Amino acid sequence: MDAVNGQGNKGETGEAAAQALEARLGQDIVVRGPDVLAYCRDWHGDVQSDAVAVLRPRTTAEVQECVRAAVDLGLQIIPQGGNTGLVLGGVPDAPDRQVVVSLERMTAVRSLDAANFSAVVEAGIVLEEFKDKVAQAGLYFPLALGAQGSCRLGGNVATNAGGVNVLRYGMTRELLLGLEVVLPDGSLFEGLTCLRKDNRGIDLKQLFIGSEGTLGIITAVSVKLFPAPEQVATALLAVGSLEDAIALYRQARRLCCDLMSAFEFMPPSAFQLAKEGIPDLALPMAAEHPAYVLMELSGSGLVDIDDLMARFTEHAFEEGLAVDGVMASSQAQARNLWLIREGMNEGQAKRGKHLRTDISVPLSRMAEFVAEAEAAILAEFPGATCVSYGHVGDGNVHLNVLPDTRGDVEAQIYRAKQIANEVLDRYDGSISAEHGIGRLKKADFEQRLPDVQRALLEAIRTAVDPALTMNRGCQIEL
Ligand code: FAD
Ligand code: LAC
Ligand code: ZN
Repeated sequence: MDAVNGQGNKGETGEAAAQALEARLGQDIVVRGPDVLAYCRDWHGDVQSDAVAVLRPRTTAEVQECVRAAVDLGLQIIPQGGNTGLVLGGVPDAPDRQVVVSLERMTAVRSLDAANFSAVVEAGIVLEEFKDKVAQAGLYFPLALGAQGSCRLGGNVATNAGGVNVLRYGMTRELLLGLEVVLPDGSLFEGLTCLRKDNRGIDLKQLFIGSEGTLGIITAVSVKLFPAPEQVATALLAVGSLEDAIALYRQARRLCCDLMSAFEFMPPSAFQLAKEGIPDLALPMAAEHPAYVLMELSGSGLVDIDDLMARFTEHAFEEGLAVDGVMASSQAQARNLWLIREGMNEGQAKRGKHLRTDISVPLSRMAEFVAEAEAAILAEFPGATCVSYGHVGDGNVHLNVLPDTRGDVEAQIYRAKQIANEVLDRYDGSISAEHGIGRLKKADFEQRLPDVQRALLEAIRTAVDPALTMNRGCQIEL
């Protein structure tokens, strides 16, 4: 594994700081020694780092106390949720002067107001646990991503996570009503409103959404809830190309009455990768078609969602846009179809280091972009494998490249990224549709950052955090 800027040696200063933290905050909060390492590696296992200590507060007041203690010792703070982020935003890179503040013990649902369709919840709750608790109240929290069994709500807010339901419900930003944030001087931003309409001047909570831990530690969140969909129909459709998949998406938007909740694109290699990730996975069809779409319709009340899906897929076959397909006839079958989409990430991780991108382009140009970028990469690395998949309805594709293992893997990853970005720049796309910048994409981000935007970002960072305590080294170099 790689080290980020010098692994393992936190030095005498780091060790002294760890002892001072423990003396002030107590053993219950401060993790020292080798147990720190588990918080200092990324989800893929590409990077292993270290930190002075990990702080695990239980309450907002304890988070404030942790921040003050770190500031007094001149330490920098890396906030952490489930550590499933894919851009090294929550992984320390200066082991002798950084502490990780993990929210993992702050998991309470403070209140749930079914009549207001809202809840107030602590930032450390695992997304899936929160969704389950909301479901018990007959309601629904729509944020859904492959990492939902591990990622935590504060991390979702800090990265403005997207996922598979964005096309219906929006990104995390759209699901939020308010935030509670411990600022870098230990003071508290108390903004846990549950109002849907509130135009009292500039909406300050927006600053923290997508800030990746650079402006404060999110300790609690108030969110919008939705009626739980009583009917869900899921279909896996084989299509002739990405172009056909996008044509199908356009038709679904017109014909499915705004009831589409997911539309994910996968190449045939998804099947093999999913099998490698989940060996006992039963595949519902052969991987013999050029591309696949996993589509979901959902709704409640006086609609027949299964019938709508059946009629839509019939239309798709008649039009020649779908060439094969299966429709789940039970929740278990639907789950099985989703496991193909989720398992492919795990399969990829098992293949070792590779290029992972998170690109968005206008939907109208997506097929052209993917064809051009893949062709350019394969022209230089014929032995590499491109695996492009993702949230097609949002114009968001993860164009990933598994390098030819007979060659220099690092060099291929670096060059393939350059090629993808060169093509992307011609399409006015984004290098980060949903994962954020972190440390991994900082150089690519800064290279494309106009002067005025950079000056604004710097001004905001230094105004909120003049001592640069919060996640220094993340997003931009200061
Ligand atoms: P962490 O990884 O712990 O942290 C991420 C960033 O947020 C870091 O910069 C950290 O400092 C900061 N942070 C964390 N908690 C706080 C807090 N309480 N206050 C302030 N800052 C904080 N992402 C998507 O958008 N869409 C997907 O579909 C998707 N699928 C994924 C699938 C897999 C298998 C994996 C491993 C990841 C996926 N991700 C996806 C990326 C990741 O899950 C999200 O970015 C998620 O929102 C991160 O949450 P976390 O709690 O793990 O955050
Ligand atoms: C996904 C992650 C990689 O969509 O964002 O699977
Ligand atoms: Zn994604």
